[in-house]
Amino acid sequence: MSELDFIFSVAPAILALLLIWRLFKRKEKPLNLPPGNMGWPFLGETIGYLKPYSAITTGEFMEQHISRFGKIYKSHLFGNQTIVSTDAELNRFILQNDGRLFECSYPSSIGGILGKWSMLVLVGDMHKNMRTISLNFMSSARLRTHLIQDVETHALLILKSWKANTAFSAQDEAKKFTFNFMAKHIMSMEPGKPESEKLRREYITFMKGVVSPPLNFPGTAYRKALKSRSSILKVIEQNMDEKIRKTNGHSDKVEDDDLLGWVLKHSNLTTEQILDLILSMLFAGHETTSISISLAIYFLQGCPEAVQELREEHLGITKAKKQAGESGLNWEDYKQMEFTQCVISETLRLGNVVRFLHRKALKDVRYKGYDIPCGWKVLPVFAAVHLDPLNFDQPQAFNPWRWQKGKTSAPTSNNFMPFGGGPRLCAGSELAKLEMAVFVHHLVLNYNWELAEQDQPLAFPFVEFPKGLPIKVHDQQLTS
Ligand code: HEM
Repeated sequence: MSELDFIFSVAPAILALLLIWRLFKRKEKPLNLPPGNMGWPFLGETIGYLKPYSAITTGEFMEQHISRFGKIYKSHLFGNQTIVSTDAELNRFILQNDGRLFECSYPSSIGGILGKWSMLVLVGDMHKNMRTISLNFMSSARLRTHLIQDVETHALLILKSWKANTAFSAQDEAKKFTFNFMAKHIMSMEPGKPESEKLRREYITFMKGVVSPPLNFPGTAYRKALKSRSSILKVIEQNMDEKIRKTNGHSDKVEDDDLLGWVLKHSNLTTEQILDLILSMLFAGHETTSISISLAIYFLQGCPEAVQELREEHLGITKAKKQAGESGLNWEDYKQMEFTQCVISETLRLGNVVRFLHRKALKDVRYKGYDIPCGWKVLPVFAAVHLDPLNFDQPQAFNPWRWQKGKTSAPTSNNFMPFGGGPRLCAGSELAKLEMAVFVHHLVLNYNWELAEQDQPLAFPFVEFPKGLPIKVHDQQLTS
């Protein structure tokens, strides 16, 4: 065949293919992505998104984007094409469809530091398996029977150590409380003992790395946190070996009086999986709750009416107990803390400890006329819903009374999701509320407090008080 013959015979075939391709293209509906801005090449808009701002606001980035593009917008964040949702219904839809249309997708740096077997990053059956273990550990039966007493013991240990008229960091104290409690229940570590204190210090370095840019160079917070991770894992492994050694190597005979013992005895997880589970439970269980307690202390110092109402509620409970000859809080007492629950909800709404979650679309999803393409990251942002004036009247005001039963504008489950939702709903939500309530109980009965120095919660986007929330307390002694 001559060259000319070849061209004449192949050209019509190529032309036909091009026509078919064009026809298909025409039939394919163009994607209707939400409006938005993809920012700079590679960096996208991540720097603007992560710029620190006052935690009781949605921040300039979010405000500007919502007013320009609406509640659902596209962006480029954390290295991915992303749909940001500040829409209460879409947020719920995303979480309810976890595992079907969406799945958990934290930046790889988080997996690097928490471990590949951490519950926060696992998906599928392994996640279900780990979740069952942690729910069992924090079951409501355990909360009622013995966790409540231990929460009280640990709260009193901290509160009784406070010295009147001396400034100290309330944030550090709250961290000590929640860390000591978790370390006790996870690995039977006693508060104040050198090994517990060492572990607590390692966790402070570890935490700084979890929330810092994942730059693995000498001297960076991330590198230091990876080092702390190794030290923490060593402590957990030593505890594990000690437990097994006590039973001459029979893990089925290990005492299941803490989470580590329970996992060794009742699960078939590998050592690596156990280490990551324990490390991430200690992480998930103490940071969020301690910041929530710090936020409650901060909001309450600006709202004396709420402190007064809390005092009446808690004084009522202690008086009734005294009359009945009882001491120590029990589940019935906890159930009577109705106004306290309003204070907790309001603290979580306004403070937004967990402001958004990381998900990705497993399939092409169409929602409210918009397309969310398969593989795109999806960020449900609760903070924007919690601070939306359409959902909450005067959203920036600390108003625990808005949560009282019978209020016409009572918040719905759609627009209040501090603990996430769906199959990954926070496994420790009930424990967190219990810790907050018991701490507040003894705080209002024992002390008046004031800020020793101006400080305010900032979102980095993780929430923290830059100065550690310095406070001074004055004895109140309403319990005597
Ligand atoms: C006020 C305190 C707390 C807040 C605001 C909070 C918030 C959250 C949120 C929003 C999630 C969902 C993460 C996601 O879907 O990607 C979560 C998950 C989780 N939380 Fe909490 N949490 C708190 C306290 C606790 C405590 C005390 C524990 C106890 C160990 C705990 C253990 C967990 C665990 C294990 C998960 C993973 C659940 C799963 O993937 O199935 N949290 N938390």
